[in-house]
Amino acid sequence: MKNFVSVDDVEDMAALLHMANQYKNDPYATPQIGNNKILGLIFFNPSLRTRLSTQKAALNLGMHVMIMNFDKDGWALETEEGAIMNGNKAEHIKEGAAVMGQYCDIIGIRSFPNLEDRDLDYKEVTINGFIKYAGVPIVNLESAVLHPLQSLADLMTIEELKKKARPKVVLTWAPHVKALPQSVPNSFAQWMNRADVDFVITHPAGYELAPQFSQPATIEYDQQKAFEDADFIYAKNWSSYENYGKILSKDPSWMITNDKMKLTNHAHFMHCLPVRRNVVVHDEVLDGAQSIVIQQAANRLYAAQAVLKSILDSSTQL
Ligand code: CP
Repeated sequence: MKNFVSVDDVEDMAALLHMANQYKNDPYATPQIGNNKILGLIFFNPSLRTRLSTQKAALNLGMHVMIMNFDKDGWALETEEGAIMNGNKAEHIKEGAAVMGQYCDIIGIRSFPNLEDRDLDYKEVTINGFIKYAGVPIVNLESAVLHPLQSLADLMTIEELKKKARPKVVLTWAPHVKALPQSVPNSFAQWMNRADVDFVITHPAGYELAPQFSQPATIEYDQQKAFEDADFIYAKNWSSYENYGKILSKDPSWMITNDKMKLTNHAHFMHCLPVRRNVVVHDEVLDGAQSIVIQQAANRLYAAQAVLKSILDSSTQL
């Protein structure tokens, strides 16, 4: 694997899942493969799980890790070609990315959308700029549009816990106080649409995801109907794609409760975290036996380790 930006970078999903499972059984199976290799992790936005799981994954492979909170410690990056840089952005991504590529063998980047200009966000200028100018493999730690490390861990968790060959997986919108990116639901949809699952997305009208990610999933606007016979419920808030970045609803009746979970086939409850209790999901669900959010977060480590190993293998072969 050259880069890991979306599911499209994965040549063999089954093989990647197999490797992640092998690392879960034996995290230190390949301690030398990353010797003398540097993973640079740069964050334009906060993170708990992605930052720590990716760092630990690299350490398990024998890599060294350098972390930079770019929003606080880096120069503000200009991404526009031909920009006259007489404003507050001191460094162009052409130099910033190229310099980081001199110090790092792999670079991971977290860069959220601004949720103001859809075309600009969906162009993924930061992650694409790093791919273009860094000259080393790039790992998406959650970009403006996608969060593939999360989705790989989500799929791994579903595969671990499914009780039938083709489970019903429901991605449900849930209310939130803030406008959130579409990256997690976009990415989850992209991965589920390639997995052997019966995939349904439910949300209020106006929250349709970008069709390049959501299709060909079934869209069901009635949340309770969508929950019927579900084996996995994946809750997430997102802001509107059509009315870009806007909150169209805070309807609390979309919150996940035990009564709704009773409509399912004893479904497991999933969320990428962090989650706002009693806004997105009621305590009774999150603290109950059906919640698998901690196992899901634990699998982030093995997903990241498999991705880094695949990239290291590819760069060794060059
Ligand atoms: N799920 C996830 O990416 O968590 P963090 O934002 O804490 O990294």
